Amino acid sequence: MPSDVDAVQLRGIGKRFPGVIANHDVDVTIRSGTVHALIGENGAGKSTLMKILYGVQRPDDGTITIEGKDVVLKSPTEAIDAGVGMVFQHFMLADNLTVLENMVLGAEKLHGIGDAARTEIRRISDRFGFDLDPDVLVEKLGVAARQRLEIAKVLYRGARIIILDEPTAVLVPQEVEALFVNLRELKDAGNSVLFISHKLDEVLAIADDITVMRRGTTVGTADSHTATKRQLAELMVGSELPSPETEESTVTDTVELSLDGVTLTDEFGRNLLTDLSLKIRRGEVLGIAGVEGNGQSELVETIMGMRIPSAGTIKLGDQDVTHWHTRQLREAGIGYIPEDRHRHGLLLDAPLWENRILGHQTRPPSAKGMWINRKGARQDTERIVADYDVRAPGIDTPARALSGGNQQKLIVGREMSGDPVLLIASHPTRGVDVGAQAAIWDHIKRARRAGLAVLLISADLDELIGLSDTIQVILRGRFVGTFEPSKVTPQDLGTAMTGGEAA
Ligand SMILES: Nc1ncnc2c1ncn2[C@@H]1O[C@H](COP(=O)(O)OP(=O)(O)O)[C@@H](O)[C@H]1O
Ligand SMILES: [Mg+2]
Repeated sequence: MPSDVDAVQLRGIGKRFPGVIANHDVDVTIRSGTVHALIGENGAGKSTLMKILYGVQRPDDGTITIEGKDVVLKSPTEAIDAGVGMVFQHFMLADNLTVLENMVLGAEKLHGIGDAARTEIRRISDRFGFDLDPDVLVEKLGVAARQRLEIAKVLYRGARIIILDEPTAVLVPQEVEALFVNLRELKDAGNSVLFISHKLDEVLAIADDITVMRRGTTVGTADSHTATKRQLAELMVGSELPSPETEESTVTDTVELSLDGVTLTDEFGRNLLTDLSLKIRRGEVLGIAGVEGNGQSELVETIMGMRIPSAGTIKLGDQDVTHWHTRQLREAGIGYIPEDRHRHGLLLDAPLWENRILGHQTRPPSAKGMWINRKGARQDTERIVADYDVRAPGIDTPARALSGGNQQKLIVGREMSGDPVLLIASHPTRGVDVGAQAAIWDHIKRARRAGLAVLLISADLDELIGLSDTIQVILRGRFVGTFEPSKVTPQDLGTAMTGGEAA
């Protein structure tokens, strides 16, 4: 039963720890009688904000208004007096005491420690469906029951605004359902619940309102009736980013890469690739779909001069490059994001700036005449780290110390440098987190708009459909179908990729 006065208003909240801005410019409004979800990736600042609302942390900036009254909360006791209770991620119960003893501990003044307390516990337990026996030892309780006891404890202390920090992290699905039943009861009784989570299905199932935090601040609100998981995920990681969807076509008439009848045989004379022909134009992304091991790697290695075709021609623009070496191809303007970044993409023990040189040792800014240009390479690595948001302590850090997503962003940044005319991208976002994936998509899209031609090999069909202008399906080394991404579904592709077996 939402009332006119908001349960909580947080305005301009800021909190700094040494070297970390945990919260800044945080604004949240919790309507009375609602379940309000606070969502965000790990480290977004959710717990810090809730500890501020519960008086555990003092904010450096901002104001807190509870039920219409401005408050300064110097301790949890003051928060409880103002009607706020919090259940932490790690429970704070005494195992060797009973439910009743845990409930009344520190709150003896409210209902004593005897029959009145027992009656109140029973009342709360019955009202909200907590199913708590006052005389059971806490050590006998499972996780879900302990959580219900923690919630009951804050209600016992008179909380009307209940903060639950990632309550479902410790529960199995059936227990989550049961908790949600409890939360709806709490709400129906006029309480407000702050539900912290990063699980979007749960949030959409239980919340009325949603506030999204990213990097310490609130970046948006959403209505759970209309929001989608995708929208929320976008807000959590940065809205500009995470769809592979390209908008308008940027395909031109200028052919950058063409293959004509390319066939590759192995040492026993068997065909690995059979009669492959394709064209990629300036501003075009050609996607290759296929079940792993159907010739994708061989196709890329043939184009990149690591294998020599037994028949057919490969042209870069007008130039026949069929027998060129990898280095010549790179110098002619091909960027190459390899399939296995650990084997072919990076020297893991070398610092980032040396990895910038890898494969680019003959061209500026890594080279000056015949010599390696150390300074140029270092400066350009700084540029890549900034432009591609490579999170690393510095350019002297070994590549090994970076997360997979940041390693991949470094490779993409390196391969896009020097404005290549053609990018061969094998699984460019495989194994990277959603933020890095979005950043990589964004860079490919931007380069495509600027005229880059891209050969995209990916096992992620949404990525292929989103980024590509045309999709070719490869099966046992042959192209078996051409699809228009706007008209094809992942199911259609799946069928073609298996030669119809999946139909
Ligand atoms: N007591 C603290 N001292 C120093 N840094 C902290 C402290 N509490 C949180 N942080 C930092 O503040 C940031 C936000 O953390 P937190 O509020 O726990 O995020 P979330 O709950 O969204 O995962 C993180 O970078 C975290 O390391
Ligand atoms: Mg947290």
